Amino acid sequence: MREVAIVAAGMTRFGELWESSLRDLFAEAALEALGAAGVDRVDSLYVGCMSAGQFVGQEHLGPLMADQLGMAGVAATHVESACASGGVALRSAFIEVASGMSDLVLAAGVEKMTDGADVTAVLATAADQETEAYHGITFPGLYAMIARAHMQSKGTTEEDLAWVAVKSHRHGALNPKAQFRREVKLEEVLNSSMVADPLRLLHCSPVSDGAAAVLLCPLADAKKYTDRPVRIRASGLATSTMALADRKDPSFLDAVQLSAERAYRMAGVTPRDIQVAEVHDCFTIAEICCIEALGLVPTCSGRHAARSGETALGGRLPVNPSGGLKSKGHPVGATGIAQAIEIFEQLRGEAGARQVKDAHLGLTQNMGGSGASSVVHIFERA
Ligand code: COA
Repeated sequence: MREVAIVAAGMTRFGELWESSLRDLFAEAALEALGAAGVDRVDSLYVGCMSAGQFVGQEHLGPLMADQLGMAGVAATHVESACASGGVALRSAFIEVASGMSDLVLAAGVEKMTDGADVTAVLATAADQETEAYHGITFPGLYAMIARAHMQSKGTTEEDLAWVAVKSHRHGALNPKAQFRREVKLEEVLNSSMVADPLRLLHCSPVSDGAAAVLLCPLADAKKYTDRPVRIRASGLATSTMALADRKDPSFLDAVQLSAERAYRMAGVTPRDIQVAEVHDCFTIAEICCIEALGLVPTCSGRHAARSGETALGGRLPVNPSGGLKSKGHPVGATGIAQAIEIFEQLRGEAGARQVKDAHLGLTQNMGGSGASSVVHIFERA
């Protein structure tokens, strides 16, 4: 396998972007990445997107987006793994470059969620239709059950959950691309309206539009495009049962652990080596479960990490310096690529007010559904 680098990135603002269509969002992010590298053509491109067919009635995204970039003719593939679509698109591009099959590949993610679809119903298609969605379960509902199980087995409290939101909004306030750029107080989170007990409005990621794109090439060619490439050291993908009820412990995300183990092994590093991480906090409880399953904190201590400042900017291991899905926003198909862009900027020293000092090894973790798929990437300043 060849070593692979990210050499350029582009990203729209995340939020309710009424003025831009699905293809506008994709093109904005992709053209920014291509422009940064000074190229106007790639060998191949991947489009991570969960459900444009249901959100805006558009499928067949590979050729559509290639054409939109003026590149009709190039190989183009739509990748779907629910909210992990972006992360799996990145993995697909990584494998294509590592294998030697292509030398310049664009990995992008996009979602347009605010155009009038029944968002809750569309998102619920990522749950098990026969045993969950058919009976009316929603994603806030599934993660509320995960939260209750975590509270019962590990003593987590509503306040522990709320501290994650406080931290995420504090970070997001520093991110010009974030959907919510305002800090929230603990009391505000604890008093926000109930969505699915115990998860309140301020425990949830929002409904968002947005796109993100990164450009990959062999590490050996990277200096042609940038003087600060970021190497992708590893990629790990894993699955779990679709239905939450089929898991031995619903508060433990086994696919996250498995995907991380595969990535740590491939990179030859341990969780102690990671200096900055972007994890899939679609709800505050998800961040707590993910940092435990990734081994970034000991099991049962995830609930203390935001409150103690351990995972805040300036703490031992900053988690979600971008503001995470909670504050930056969660246009589902774009999220996995946006996470990679945050780590790309952190490792290049370009994260501005969110910069983690001297970071040279970072991790992203992107998850589909209630944890039925998870993909982890490890990045290193080259
Ligand atoms: N966090 C913070 N503020 C939020 C928010 C969120 N997640 N969602 C909405 N808001 C704000 C809006 O900006 C708006 O503020 P304003 O009155 O100052 O303009 C207000 O809350 C009401 O917004 P609205 O769009 O009416 O909210 P809603 O009640 O329709 O939706 C949720 C709120 C939480 C139900 C919705 O964001 C949601 O479903 N989130 C989960 C998405 C999801 O499941 N993703 C997949 C995860 S696997």
